[in-house]
Amino acid sequence: MFTQINSIGLFGMNAFPVKAEINSAKGIPAFDIVGLADTSVQESKQRIVSALKNSGIGTKSQSLIINLTPASVKKAGSSYDLAILTAILTVQGESLIDVSKAAFFGEISLGGGVNAVLGALTMAIEAKKNGAESVFLPYENAAEASVVSGLTVYGVRNVAELYRHLRGEKPVLPQPPYIPGKAAYEDLPDFSDVKGQENVKQALTIAAAGFHNVLMIGTPGTGKSMLAKRLPSILPAMTFGESIETTQIHSIAGILDKNAPLVVSRPFRPVSHTASAAGLVGGSGIPRPGEISLAHNGVLFLDELPEFDRRTLETLRQPVENREIVISRATGSARYPCNFMLVAAMNPCPCGNFGHPAKQCVCSPLAVTRYLSKISQPVLDRIDIQTEVNPVGYNEISDDEKGLSSAVMRGRVERARFVQEKRFAGTNIRSNSEIPPALLGETCVMEDSARELIKNVFDKLGMSARAYDRVLKVARTAADLDGDEFITKKHVSMAISYRSLDRKYWNRP
Ligand SMILES: Nc1ncnc2c1ncn2[C@@H]1O[C@H](COP(=O)(O)OP(=O)(O)O)[C@@H](O)[C@H]1O
Ligand SMILES: [Mg+2]
Ligand SMILES: [Zn+2]
Repeated sequence: MFTQINSIGLFGMNAFPVKAEINSAKGIPAFDIVGLADTSVQESKQRIVSALKNSGIGTKSQSLIINLTPASVKKAGSSYDLAILTAILTVQGESLIDVSKAAFFGEISLGGGVNAVLGALTMAIEAKKNGAESVFLPYENAAEASVVSGLTVYGVRNVAELYRHLRGEKPVLPQPPYIPGKAAYEDLPDFSDVKGQENVKQALTIAAAGFHNVLMIGTPGTGKSMLAKRLPSILPAMTFGESIETTQIHSIAGILDKNAPLVVSRPFRPVSHTASAAGLVGGSGIPRPGEISLAHNGVLFLDELPEFDRRTLETLRQPVENREIVISRATGSARYPCNFMLVAAMNPCPCGNFGHPAKQCVCSPLAVTRYLSKISQPVLDRIDIQTEVNPVGYNEISDDEKGLSSAVMRGRVERARFVQEKRFAGTNIRSNSEIPPALLGETCVMEDSARELIKNVFDKLGMSARAYDRVLKVARTAADLDGDEFITKKHVSMAISYRSLDRKYWNRP
């Protein structure tokens, strides 16, 4: 007898339909899996035989051949278990319901349990795309998959439960669709804790509004880490589409919160300077997403930037530009989106006092140069907003008055985002930072005086073409925050000033 059961394969973030074909014949008992199935798939046989036995389900002595199609695509992992087991139950005449419009994936344990898999959301989306009306998957993944609209999700705890469902004895109840909550801004640290630093708050508002990369430089204790940690409180709410994208990556990485199966708050990922290049951009055997992808649609925070390995920082260059990363391995290449806002903080020199109004820097010029050279010009070029964080004065710090609050700042950010949404409607651009060169002319229209200013400084500052583009985009965001259609001189001058630390620190005369 022959039958086939739908499943879904996954490599990196690329899901693809797979069918578990089965042929059973009388004869010497055998159980084979073919179809470019690697050893992890072959081990499915042991898991299934043991699980059936431990679930009290008898097997018929017969010869079983499973073919995973398309046979040209490599299959790995344990998530085909559920489909293979269902195929066996079907040819044994144990399945009495029609599952031709269902897809099955999940790992089976020796004891008969059904274990969670990574990437369930991506697989459920692919199932739907291929015409599935329902999916059977591990119970633990059910809430996550239930955000896919128009798909009935059956979360299965164990083989016995699936068996009774297939026999029509006791149906598994479909998972109610998950209703995501709203991002909880109230619980986040607030900018009102930061006294003074109005100019840095302004820079961070522009960064959050246009999704621009930021670097804060200042002596120790000026509040750089404190300011960065408050960024999540002013990031605009995620769209549903953004939530789905980020959730898929978190699911594949296995960091999804079971109690919140849809990511609704923009990620804020602080990365330790001991992180490896693979940890940062992704890698290992079956390429896993790195921190840059876990930060997709949110913030990647690199504190104490010069402490990072220079080569590790260099690996950021390409993904910062392309907003996606392709990781190639012998097993294949995986593509992960990584549209993140890079936020970095650093001291200006090893002792930290370089440029301090009162304290003396004790570093030799060479030591300062060596320290700063950890951040290469191409990396620096990609940081749109560079801002100094100066020590706040006594009057400010001793003032009982609260500083500018996150709610006020986020209100401004949301308004600027709204302008961008309208500007980019019908395109896949989400923020000013993503404006491609071809659209700069029409989206960043400058008043004459603004154009005059940028023309004058371009050569004088030795701006690169990339720097010029980025200045325009930051100026666009500054204008959006002011509700101005055209970029004025003030906006351009502000955007240029955000690139002036290059010269003050890196290219010191
Ligand atoms: N502007 C400020 N308003 C209130 N507290 C501040 C301010 N700047 C610094 N602090 C205090 O100093 C501490 C150290 O700041 P931190 O962010 O770690 O500095 P940095 O990262 O620049 O070395 C903060 O945790 C906070 O208590
Ligand atoms: Mg710090
Ligand atoms: Zn110093």
